[in-house]
Amino acid sequence: LKGDDLKAALQAADAVICRSQPKITADLLEFPGKLRAIARAGVGVDTIDVPAATKKGIVVMNTPGGNTVSAAEHTIALMFALARQVPAADAVMKAGGWDRNKFLGTQLTGKTLGVIGLGRIGLEVAKRAKGLGMEVVGFDPFVTSARAAELGVTPANGLADLLPKADFLTVHIPLTPETKGLIGSKELAAMKKTARLLNVARGGIIDEQALADALKAGVVAGAGVDVFSTEPAPADNPLRGAPNVVLTPHLGASTVEAQENVAVE
Ligand code: MLT
Repeated sequence: LKGDDLKAALQAADAVICRSQPKITADLLEFPGKLRAIARAGVGVDTIDVPAATKKGIVVMNTPGGNTVSAAEHTIALMFALARQVPAADAVMKAGGWDRNKFLGTQLTGKTLGVIGLGRIGLEVAKRAKGLGMEVVGFDPFVTSARAAELGVTPANGLADLLPKADFLTVHIPLTPETKGLIGSKELAAMKKTARLLNVARGGIIDEQALADALKAGVVAGAGVDVFSTEPAPADNPLRGAPNVVLTPHLGASTVEAQENVAVE
């Protein structure tokens, strides 16, 4: 549903449950009828104008636990896909080719994974990375160094400390005015030339144009991106034309299990 149809449906309902595609904006909530609750079958409530809903006495809820494992697994999947160039090698095979020299990979064991955001998903990713023999360095302003260490994560003293250490960098934070563009050209320049970045959180936390430029210039080595600043990502999204990227269309929570979990929650 869109536009007036969505507005009418919202007005007719006591409660709505939505995934991430519908945008519940202030104008849709101007005359909310009997609507009292909006539930997000997922983590992020960035698709809902929460202050506008609150003003109308409508509670906004999410289901924060249901898709944690699936999002973490997708992050690990992208990390492997990047490290061994699986999609590019697969494309060559399917086109009838056989090129072993082009696809020299990198091992994950012994590498450092930088995790920005040590919430539910960040910690699940960290746990899996440790199982792969990676060193995990994490940064989260809301988690104390002692707590991070308890979780087996070496605490970083801010981004300036974390960025130069990371062979892989993954972000697991919400998109807010403070986190938009958190990783831009300055931050990318502070990373190793061999570093690879992952974003399975929200589009725009890593600036897309800055990342595409950095990939083209060899400032960083690769990126796995599942989320985009505009979704569906338009044809001219700069990452579509960038080298060494693995892109998926917001599939982090798209597993049978995650969808069932958030539905039950
Ligand atoms: C979420 O916010 O839970 C995820 O991005 C998955 C989604 O809703 O599509």
